[in-house]
Amino acid sequence: MNCQIGNDVSRAAQLLRSGKLVGFATETVYGLGANAFDERAVAGIFEAKERPTFDPLIVHLATIDQLPLVARSIPEAASLLIESYWPGPLTLIFPKTTAVPDLVTAGLDSVAVRIPSHPLALELLKVADVPIAAPSANRFGCVSPTTAEHVAEQLGDRIDYILDGGPCSVGLESTIVSLLGAQPTVLRLGGLDVEELEQTIGHVEMKIAGSDPGNRASESSPQLAPGMLLRHYAPRTPLVVKDSLSAPDLADGDALLLSRPVSFSVENHHCEILSMTGDLKECAAGFFSALRRLDALGPKRILAEWFPNEGLGRALNDRLRRAAATTSADSLHL
Ligand code: TXA
Ligand code: MG
Repeated sequence: MNCQIGNDVSRAAQLLRSGKLVGFATETVYGLGANAFDERAVAGIFEAKERPTFDPLIVHLATIDQLPLVARSIPEAASLLIESYWPGPLTLIFPKTTAVPDLVTAGLDSVAVRIPSHPLALELLKVADVPIAAPSANRFGCVSPTTAEHVAEQLGDRIDYILDGGPCSVGLESTIVSLLGAQPTVLRLGGLDVEELEQTIGHVEMKIAGSDPGNRASESSPQLAPGMLLRHYAPRTPLVVKDSLSAPDLADGDALLLSRPVSFSVENHHCEILSMTGDLKECAAGFFSALRRLDALGPKRILAEWFPNEGLGRALNDRLRRAAATTSADSLHL
């Protein structure tokens, strides 16, 4: 039986406070929330998602005042980032307080934190008045949810309520930056592009697990994001990504995921065009939804082109690469 979808913030907040699981809109993707200080409720997240417990969760706050509840110390470099990008699609890694259960952080001594900018998420966090641990509200390894209906499809029978805030405006998960080392380090590309980040704080290091074979994450490395799997965000249909597509690439039963209209004929093929002008923000906002729609049609393959490797295109290419990887998640815990 599917849970209710609605916009009753006080009900959602009450459910969270009483240890239940609530799907909720954020500007990046929908989250699957539980009271971060309630270890039993957090265990429910891992169960509902079928997520391995080596993969830590992001803790969501309503205000900066709440940060000392979860972060033991706040490095100087954090202030400018917080001032510039919170609320918004940026997650920061801090040393954790003892109040944060080990299950939330997969046993790490650090915690991932963000303040989302979606007004409904902010209201929920304010009314619930507890930090909310929330991964993306999809089953482990699957395509991320950007509408309430996406959440209901995969988790509706396992959670208590879905707070519907419409389609996500950013459409990609938050960018994750670690502040544990001497230099701010990007651990996951996401909805805040790195060029913009660098305009604010200067050069940042990049340690993206799985993006380069010499750069392997392990649970013992605090500078890398565990749980970043080579195969992730994956549709059921095989996904093939090329530098540029042309008519001879198309076989019967192929579907296309395009960043802009193409000059060759795509007649007889299901086709999703993310933007009429190739605008990367628009592409990001529609990316996961389009991938889901094509997947649901059951084509033989989904063909896509790499995005320009700049701005949000880098995060989109990261998602494409992981969605196209064929090796099983288990054997590739990088
Ligand atoms: O936009 C987002 O970030 C969404 C919304 C719901 O806020 N959440 C999200 O959560 O994408 P999730 O669970 O799909 O990704 C969380 C990732 C983990 O897989 C891990 O890579 C990283 O955050 N992470 C969490 N805690 C960490 C820590 N202490 N150190 C390093 N990486 C961490
Ligand atoms: Mg996720």
